[in-house]
Amino acid sequence: MAEIKTVGILTSGGDAPGMNAAIRAVTRSAIYCGLNVKGIYRGYRGLIADEIVDFHTQNVSNIIQMGGTILKTARCKEFQTPEGRQLAYDVMQRHHIDALVVIGGDGSLTGARIFANEFNFPIIGLPGTIDNDLYGTDSTIGYDTALNTIMDCVDKIRDTATSHERLFFIEVMGRDAGFLALNGAIAAGAEAAIIPEISTQVDQLAELIQNGFRKSKNSSIVLVAESPVTGGAMGLAERVKNEYPGYDVRVSILGHLQRGGSPTAYDRILASRMGAAAIDALMDDQRNVMIGIKNDEIVYVPFTRAIKKEKPINRDLLDTLRRLSI
Ligand code: F6P
Repeated sequence: MAEIKTVGILTSGGDAPGMNAAIRAVTRSAIYCGLNVKGIYRGYRGLIADEIVDFHTQNVSNIIQMGGTILKTARCKEFQTPEGRQLAYDVMQRHHIDALVVIGGDGSLTGARIFANEFNFPIIGLPGTIDNDLYGTDSTIGYDTALNTIMDCVDKIRDTATSHERLFFIEVMGRDAGFLALNGAIAAGAEAAIIPEISTQVDQLAELIQNGFRKSKNSSIVLVAESPVTGGAMGLAERVKNEYPGYDVRVSILGHLQRGGSPTAYDRILASRMGAAAIDALMDDQRNVMIGIKNDEIVYVPFTRAIKKEKPINRDLLDTLRRLSI
């Protein structure tokens, strides 16, 4: 395989806390191993537009504690076309970039996989998304911070729920996955989580009401995963008003505040380990894999598995939540 001398790094898709820690780790590990580093701004869009600068150790000083991404990010339609990818390839040739590290979620790694196959180009992916929906890794960079943010928000909303004896539907992000809703509910001591993984099998709202979830309580908090499958918090509140009048219902949609803020220690360590592992993987002639973490060990997950396989919800967690909410 051709020797790698210069590595490009970009962040793509939704920003996630810990992306900066990952950028720092990739940059410093690469330099430590004698490689040159190029920072690519604004994801694949910036790659096509040639927004590329040389990165040195100082470029990543003082960023481990920062949310967002210093490289900026974007979702890029042009990279989904063969013409767009050809332009991206030409730009990388001009900059003598021999390999790429892509930090992002599902869509970003899908783009990476297609590009890597088309041009036989070495790419390593890092799972950067609050959604935790990539197969083959126990956690994605940003997930733990978002979970802690959700927990803090729910703790605050609980004051009103209890004081006014209300039923609250709190909508959290996750795209099509319920990891944030389910684990957020356990962490915040909520009564239930309504998640897309279960919504197609049972009517979770009917089950909740029929099980008399207010038997021993005057207020209730239900976390709802954003998704057309769950109906979202608004949809569920509407249903309660129509089908179960008598509840004083309120909705809170947490939105983008879940994506911001300083990363937790867990996310900083995860991002640092994964960033270093990305360079090890390249030096080890690994190609087209995502770095994952399984039982505290770094693993390499082929792109096709990371993207295409559905990451299952741990059903024991549902049982734990049900038991603890009586
Ligand atoms: O993938 C991260 C995520 O925050 C999802 O949870 C959410 O559905 C989506 O991005 C929102 O995207 P945007 O910020 O582009 O509206």
